[in-house]
Amino acid sequence: MNALQATDLRKSFHVEGRDIDVLRGVSLALPKGAFHAVMGPSGSGKSTLLNLLAGLLRPDAGEVSVAGRPLAGLSDRELTLLRRRAIGVVFQDCNLIPTLTVAQNIALPALLDGRALPEARLATLLRLVGLEHRRDQPADRLSGGEAQRTAIARAFAMAPGVILADEPTGNLDSPAAADFCATLTRLNRELGAAILLISHDPQVAAAADRVHLLRDGRILGAFETGHDPARVSAEYLGRLA
Ligand SMILES: Nc1ncnc2c1ncn2[C@@H]1O[C@H](COP(=O)(O)OP(=O)(O)OP(=O)(O)O)[C@@H](O)[C@H]1O
Ligand SMILES: [Mg+2]
Repeated sequence: MNALQATDLRKSFHVEGRDIDVLRGVSLALPKGAFHAVMGPSGSGKSTLLNLLAGLLRPDAGEVSVAGRPLAGLSDRELTLLRRRAIGVVFQDCNLIPTLTVAQNIALPALLDGRALPEARLATLLRLVGLEHRRDQPADRLSGGEAQRTAIARAFAMAPGVILADEPTGNLDSPAAADFCATLTRLNRELGAAILLISHDPQVAAAADRVHLLRDGRILGAFETGHDPARVSAEYLGRLA
């Protein structure tokens, strides 16, 4: 069973009296524990796809399953619980609560779920993202890279099976982006959650093992990265040409 499975997803938006077909039949499988990326030009539908996979948007047709559970059959309440426990999401803007500390931000999903995050889990997360020394720092006093590593630790807090990240390095300079990618790889290997990373940056996408190419609302194909940015860049530009 896949951690995440999308089958023939379609989504249109109605704008000024006409329909824009953003996704025109997207299928994609993310096996358990896998680390994949989605690349595609601006406007190709990457964020729309991520929002469908996260259950934040409902598709017009097609199906999303998380650990074999179709999202379509879930009530809003069940969907909220699934999003809280089974899917971790990171956006370009890390959406931390500025007045809470790093530790409090990471523990927030557990708190929302009515429990405390076990201290051992918090300590593991802080270690894996390299923020033990920032534990009690308010989030509004972090660098961009530290803030994004706090956000990824928070996404992993509930031990979800799937992590979805939409351009998480979009606001970072290249050393901070490289550091964030190394952190993602470490979390993937040590905690085992499957990751789907959206990026149009070959340097960033090369952290994943496999890249799915999205263009004009369709998957053009997929390739192995070999963790080599030059190869990712050549494949990406070559296949989109
Ligand atoms: N809520 C919406 N209403 C209307 N149109 C939308 C909506 N969301 C997205 N779109 C349109 O869908 C298309 C795809 O948008 P999307 O944000 O998924 O692209 P993207 O691949 O993430 O682009 P980028 O790389 O710039 O983030 C765009 O043409 C966008 O204008
Ligand atoms: Mg986007």
